[in-house]
Amino acid sequence: MKAIRLFILLFVISLKTFADEGMWLPFLLETLNEKEMKAMGMKINAKDIYDINKGSLKDAIVQFGGGCTGEIISNEGLVLTNHHCGFGSIQRLSTLTNNYIANGYWSKNRNEELAAPGLSVTFISRMDDITKIVLAGITKDMAEQDRQSQIDKNIRAYQSSYKKETYENLLVRPFYNGNMYIAIVTVVYTDIRFVGAPPESIGAYGHDTDNWVWPRHAADFSVFRIYADANNKPAPYNPNNVPYKPKKSLNISMKGVKEGDFTMVFGFPGRTNEYLPAIAVQQTLELNNPIKIKIRDEVLQIQKSFMQKDEAIKLQYSSKYAGIANSWKKWIGENQGLARSNAVQKKLDQEKIFTTKLQSNNILKTKYGSVLEDLKEIYQRAETYFYVRDAFNETIGNCEILTQGIQLNALEKALESGNESAITKEKENISNRLPTFFKDYSKLVDEVILGKLIQIYFTRVDPKFWGTVSGQLWDKYNKDGVALATDVFANSFLTKESTFKAFLQLSNTELLNTLKSDKGYAIANALRQGYVVNAASNINNLQSEINQKQREYMAAQMEVLSSKRFYPDANSTLRITYGKVKGYQPKDGASYHYYTYLDGVMEKYIPNDYEFDVPKKLRDLYAAKDYGKYGENGKMPVCFIAANHTTGGNSGSPALDAYGNLVGLNFDRAWEGTMSDINYDPNICRNIMVDLRYVLFIIDKFGGATHLIKEMKLVYPKK
Ligand code: ARG
Ligand code: GLU
Repeated sequence: MKAIRLFILLFVISLKTFADEGMWLPFLLETLNEKEMKAMGMKINAKDIYDINKGSLKDAIVQFGGGCTGEIISNEGLVLTNHHCGFGSIQRLSTLTNNYIANGYWSKNRNEELAAPGLSVTFISRMDDITKIVLAGITKDMAEQDRQSQIDKNIRAYQSSYKKETYENLLVRPFYNGNMYIAIVTVVYTDIRFVGAPPESIGAYGHDTDNWVWPRHAADFSVFRIYADANNKPAPYNPNNVPYKPKKSLNISMKGVKEGDFTMVFGFPGRTNEYLPAIAVQQTLELNNPIKIKIRDEVLQIQKSFMQKDEAIKLQYSSKYAGIANSWKKWIGENQGLARSNAVQKKLDQEKIFTTKLQSNNILKTKYGSVLEDLKEIYQRAETYFYVRDAFNETIGNCEILTQGIQLNALEKALESGNESAITKEKENISNRLPTFFKDYSKLVDEVILGKLIQIYFTRVDPKFWGTVSGQLWDKYNKDGVALATDVFANSFLTKESTFKAFLQLSNTELLNTLKSDKGYAIANALRQGYVVNAASNINNLQSEINQKQREYMAAQMEVLSSKRFYPDANSTLRITYGKVKGYQPKDGASYHYYTYLDGVMEKYIPNDYEFDVPKKLRDLYAAKDYGKYGENGKMPVCFIAANHTTGGNSGSPALDAYGNLVGLNFDRAWEGTMSDINYDPNICRNIMVDLRYVLFIIDKFGGATHLIKEMKLVYPKK
């Protein structure tokens, strides 16, 4: 921690250059960033962004449904987020006849706002640095386990002494790989209702072809409303709940942005790894990303071939497909970017500087010794294991019969122990999840996937990790994935809801016998066993060795390279990032502008295409240039980019202008810069936002939901 304070000090004195890199802690803005933000054009104060004593911008920001961000845009609890963030909820509310994904939806009044069960939004009341409290009694030579239990004890003591309101939660999270601890007080609302969204032909325009790509033309937004009890406090769904009255709601700018304008993005970035050693980057590039990409290549091809010829399968698999494709495409872009930017060599060069500086300072040398060499050595030992981990997780995670099968292991254990209450509980768990699972399951798709993934697994993973039973099974089917899948799908109860339900009706003895003789369960369980016996515990140990060394390496970097800027890696906590609006050069000779317009939507239009169709009404509005007050000089702005350092989890984040007005809705990054999670490069890393004027145009002129616009506060800031 001394390192961090020292660094903060040095950083404040040596503010010379502007960099766009960094996901900063809102409660440290005043100390660390305010001066720079103002020099870059910000017209408000750090206190307007984060203040625990009065309503500030942070009170308008929520974590949306666990993985995304949303923001409050009216005094009646209206929340804006991405279409792809609301997608799961919208899909669950949809049927083939009431298909809100295909047709969009606009509630005409409060009664038509549809409860979205399972959805929640989380507000942040406050964040406090409690590192001293959490690390009290920790010494450098403590065994890792003792260290952790002391930390847990300190956290528990802090939590029980903290006086929070009944509706608040208190979380404590590590930052800088465990060199800093922050207490976060949150308030979670669970009565969230779906208010409206455009059809996916607008909200996800360009779908997977355009995903991660600039120039972009999607209106990736959906609208929800938070409901509260009569005291404005969180309450479970109740028809008598009322719209939440926010402490702060964002004003919406009708002016858009110009090149060079200051923007900031407020939200909940999920995970970055900016401080890895070169060897870890190299393994990601050469081993881990490739195996994950390969497995998903196959899964996506198979799912797509079914979705293209069957509407029902398309509805079942579109959300799953989008999720699988999203990371897949990101990893491909990440690998290209890492390779092109010579990220490994760049890291090696930085390590050389680090080592030279460390060696020249006796105090630091004694303190951090061979931390980098040690870390490297662990990664070397971990290489094969981490590869197996990825191959295993991707195989199990992308083949649904295997995912289901593995989850039955708990039932087998319960049956073998004869513990009645455990058995009942497991059976309940299983039968609770069956309806949702089978609603979106096609055995036709899954059978082909099983055949393919099994083939890859046994071809690309060293036999010493398979386990004996898997090896025998593989031989039995003559190393033929299709033969294995055909046999499994002809015989396993796991493939149909009816047979699965019938299975759950059996007596305990029959349950166990049926389970043990089931071919679907057999292959899932064999893979699991092989992995558990031959890899899992080593993987866990290696990971905790790495976590410990990375913590030391992080502290060492901050202390040794004290002129570099250090922000904590993303960890799904509230952050601010800021940068200017600008285009970029994706490759030699090419240059991208920072704005797109509705003209571009029409240029990409392919009638009846599943990705690039455009609804007639939008084509008509375009033909008539009927943009209402939302257009600019006869054109309709659609999306823009800026150099804000964002990552997954920043979806749905507000992009704010110099005055803190909402100008854009963040939803993606440009392909060439997706390596920013590992190696940020200000020249090509750009975040992609939809212009709020396009969002409002779609709500108002396309959707006819003018009543929603009336709830919002539109402003026309001077430039
Ligand atoms: N790439 C964006 C993100 O990481 C958008 C994903 C959703 N869109 C899609 N076409 N799958 O979440
Ligand atoms: N689409 C991403 C998300 O869902 C945000 C884009 C990114 O990863 O930068 O969080």
